[in-house]
Order: sequence, then C-alpha cells, then structure tokens
Amino acid sequence: MASTAPRIHLVDKSDYTKQKVVPLPDAYPLPPLQKGFIRIRSRILSLTTNNFSYARFGEELGWYSVWPTLPSLSAPYNDATKYGRISSWGYGEAIESAHDDVPVGTKLFGYLPIGTLPEDLQVKPMEAPGHLLEVSERRTARVMPFYNRYVCYPPDVDLSAERGARGLEALLRPLFEAGYLLNRYTFAGPERKPLHPLGHGLPWTAQQADISDAVLVLLGASGKTSLSLADQLRHARTGEAFPRKVVAVGSEASRGFTQRTGLFDEVLLYDDVDKTNLAAVLALDKATKVVLLNFAGRGDAPDRWASRLREPGGPFTGLSVGGDPTNTAPGNFNAEVDKEGSGVYMVSAPTLRDDAILAEGEAKYFEFLDEAWTRFIDDRGGLHGVSLMWRQDIGAFESDWDGLCKGKGQYGPDIGLVYEI
Ligand SMILES: NC(=O)c1ccc[n+]([C@@H]2O[C@H](COP(=O)([O-])OP(=O)(O)OC[C@H]3O[C@@H](n4cnc5c(N)ncnc54)[C@H](OP(=O)(O)O)[C@@H]3O)[C@@H](O)[C@H]2O)c1
Repeated sequence: MASTAPRIHLVDKSDYTKQKVVPLPDAYPLPPLQKGFIRIRSRILSLTTNNFSYARFGEELGWYSVWPTLPSLSAPYNDATKYGRISSWGYGEAIESAHDDVPVGTKLFGYLPIGTLPEDLQVKPMEAPGHLLEVSERRTARVMPFYNRYVCYPPDVDLSAERGARGLEALLRPLFEAGYLLNRYTFAGPERKPLHPLGHGLPWTAQQADISDAVLVLLGASGKTSLSLADQLRHARTGEAFPRKVVAVGSEASRGFTQRTGLFDEVLLYDDVDKTNLAAVLALDKATKVVLLNFAGRGDAPDRWASRLREPGGPFTGLSVGGDPTNTAPGNFNAEVDKEGSGVYMVSAPTLRDDAILAEGEAKYFEFLDEAWTRFIDDRGGLHGVSLMWRQDIGAFESDWDGLCKGKGQYGPDIGLVYEI
C-alpha cells in the first residue's frame, strides 16, 4: 500500500540546486488547533526560477522562517541550520478552522508550503474584502506583509473544476503584480504619484518615472515577470506615456517564443550587445533615455548591456529585478545599485506594493489590481504562449526543480509548471 505520510520539500541552504521531497511518517496526529488559527493544506502550487530566489536569499530575507522547523525529520534533514523550507504561490484549502471568519473548505490564494503537510496560520481579516493577514510572531518578525497576505474564496469554489484559471493564477499572479506595479507606479504618468521601485517611501521624481519616448531594454525578457511588465506597458498605458521602444534580450533558445508574444518592438540576443550598429538598431542618440531592466540576464549580460547602453551618453536608469539564478557572482550592475550617480536601483515588488497601498488605500489598491488582472486574462488570455504543465504528485516538484536548475532548455519559457496535490 502506498504511504499516506505527508511529504515536504527541503532545500540545502548553502546550495539551492540540492533539494529533496521527503516523507514525514510521524506527522500525524496533528496537535489541536489553537483559537484564532486555521489549518491549511496546499492544493495548487507553481514553480518558476522566482522560487530559486526564495531559496538563494532565504536567510537574508526571512523566507526560511515562513514555515516552522520540523525536528521530527530524519537526519540529516532535521538540521535546520542546513536545510530549510521555502514556499510556492498558489491555492490552499482550510481543512480545519478555529477562526470565526474562516469556514472549513475556504480556499486561500497566497504563499504556501511546498508539500502535503498541513500548516497552521494565525490570521486576522484585513480591510480589502476577503483578505487575511498571517500575524504570527515567526512570520511578521521576518517577512514582508506581501508574503503574509491570503485572499479567500468561499468553500463552494471547486479548484479542480476551474483548474486552468487557478493554475494560471498560481503561476503568474504575483509575477504579474510586479510588472503591474512597475508600469503603474514606478513608470507613472502625470495622473499618479510616482513610486520608487524599492518602496519604503524613497523619493522618485516625475522625471525618473517618465518613460515617454524612452527605450526600455529587458534582459531575460522571456520570463513571466518580464512578460507581465511588457504586457502592461503595451496594454495598460494611456496617452503620451508610451515608451519609444520595448526591447527584449534573451537566449537563442527563447527567441522564437519571445517574438511570438508580440509584446516587444525588437527581440535581440544577449550577444547582440557586441553589434557595431546597436545604437542604430535601438534608435539611440545622446538625448535618448534608456532604461535597462534585469530580470534574468544570463552571465555577465547585465554588465555588458549596461556599459554599452551608456555609450551614447543619454540619461540611463538601471533596474535590478532579478538575475540569472546560476550566476553566483553579483557583477557590477548589481554592485551599482544605489551608488551615488549610477542610476541603478533595486526593485522590490513587496515594498513597492506597501507604498502603493499607502497611496491608493488598501481596498482601492486591490480593486485596481484585480481589474488589471481580469483584463489581462479576459482580453489577452494571460498566457502569451505559455502552456501549463500539470503534475499530480509533489514528488515531481523535486525532479522539475532539478530540470529548471540546469537552465539549458529542459523547460523553455513556454512551459508553466503547476502542481495539483
Ligand atoms: N524584485 C522583485 O520584486 C521581483 C519580483 C518578481 C520576480 N523577481 C525575479 O525575477 C526573476 C525572473 O523570475 P520569473 O519567475 O519571471 O522567471 P521565469 O519565468 O522562470 O524566467 C525564466 C527565463 O529566465 C532566463 N534564464 C536565465 N537564467 C536561467 C536559468 N538558469 N534557468 C532558467 N531560465 C533562466 C530564461 O531566458 P533566456 O533563455 O532567454 O535566458 C528563461 O526564459 C527572478 O530572479 C525572480 O526572483 C523579482
């Protein structure tokens, strides 16, 4: 008979490429649920290279603190200094509740444990309808509110019956929000207060936000966060605030996919940085504002592109969103972040969202975001050529992680990995 023991995903904190899905034979019975808590079990999860960031920077940014350590794990996995649990975006279900506002069967969208082990959340309702915040000391002390917010759906919502739409949300919604935030607030037009890409109330002027007639260059453009920004730039702007060009840069393997999205004015390769006529291809002169956004530029591409794009002498802004997960050397581009006069800034969607909530009010912020997401799905199908690849077993998370880590095309940009467990 197959084991019914829950299984969880663990990462070697010193090397995110080493990870495993392990069973917990002694997990049951679970302790009684405390008042004010709900017990959730993950149902739909997703995997992109964004999850690698949670593992790589998990100590620094608190992502290993989201779920409690489990001393009952067998050795060596019981060593919490060496192994940690990260999270995946998706849907869970309240399988028990000791909270008056959350009936059993409620579905929750948010930051979830990877595996089949139920976890307890201490939650309080928020101003935005249907939103809950996890308020346990372990989480609030270490992670940003972005990761502690859950959106609830009534118990009669059947995730399996709406699997396509729910899978798409698991895969894309938080990444879409990053693109949405950059487009709407960091590149705000005159109708809205511009917000610094790192949030925290840092100053960001209308001039810095202005991308009218600018050339935007996106490195690692085929990824889901980048596509979301490109989608918003093309479809969610009004009037004169369109950039002159939005340019995708990526590998040969992703080129055809990126071209077919129809979201970019040019699709170039990382090595095209050495083209002698790059300024002509991009229509750059010394008055042209250039914005370089690094999503997942491979190897030293961010440094090479930053240096070349500065050559014509126009105003230059660099935004560090993410990076090549296999490149452990930070490179000059990242080192330039916030250096006086460099024009290079860190992007943090979670803290940018905090500032946007302050600017709009919480309920309005989520109302506008929901509208943008609905238009993204209803008008443009949301996928831009990505197909969901469904797995029914959490064991596949481990092999998929290995495949994605190799970064050499086992899973191209057209594949969206989702898990129904
Ligand atoms: N700062 C923020 O607030 C924020 C918010 C959201 C996401 N992010 C970050 O943005 C980055 C992109 O995340 P995502 O989930 O959108 O990415 P994704 O969809 O998994 O993007 C994959 C793309 O990245 C490129 N890539 C470069 N190195 C790769 C490797 N070793 N393995 C696989 N693909 C590689 C590939 O394009 P090519 O083949 O063309 O190179 C690939 O198509 C991550 O670093 C993520 O953490 C940051």
